[in-house]
Amino acid sequence: KRVGILISGGGSNMVALAKDMVGDHPGRAKLVIANDPGAGGLLKANALRIPTAVVDHRDFPKDREGFEAELQVVLEEAGIEMIALAGFMRILTPGFTAKWAGRMLNIHPSLLPKYKGLQTHARALEAGDAQHGCSVHEVTADLDDGPILGQARMDVRAGDTPQSLAERLLPLEHQLYPAVLRRYLAGDRTPVMLEG
Ligand code: GRF
Repeated sequence: KRVGILISGGGSNMVALAKDMVGDHPGRAKLVIANDPGAGGLLKANALRIPTAVVDHRDFPKDREGFEAELQVVLEEAGIEMIALAGFMRILTPGFTAKWAGRMLNIHPSLLPKYKGLQTHARALEAGDAQHGCSVHEVTADLDDGPILGQARMDVRAGDTPQSLAERLLPLEHQLYPAVLRRYLAGDRTPVMLEG
């Protein structure tokens, strides 16, 4: 399957996916699309020789559908069949998620269904959770809500801050996402469960 990776920022999850997609991998990253021309991940995609595109959401103020229509054109022109959202920070409309139902994954930095949305690390700390982690799920119309395909969990330590949690979680994300994508592309829906 021709995989497209959507990013908004540094793209470390995109790098982890792209580096895993070599050799006999069932899907190679054919395109990296950023919604921000300044996304650092674009340079990393260049270094990995992956074609890139930018669809700047600021070109479509208050026009989410217009932004997605342009995104769709770019995806179709590249023959993309599967989307991996990786640090992608735009909310997608039900129209777009319906079009890509069963063909779009996302990674979210919490142990879903806990802490959908933003500020997940701070919320886990405020709740006094003993464990924290990340989840990969199928994208549906509802934010951070689709079927969970894998999770990686780790202990919260005394003195942890949102920053220290995020830093310790990122390598787990980089292990989880490629493992889930491989399994998903092989048609296997058994959840990937990792302990950090
Ligand atoms: C990560 O915490 C990821 O879970 C979240 O955005 C952060 C940065 O991701 N979605 P990346 O380095 O841009 O892949």
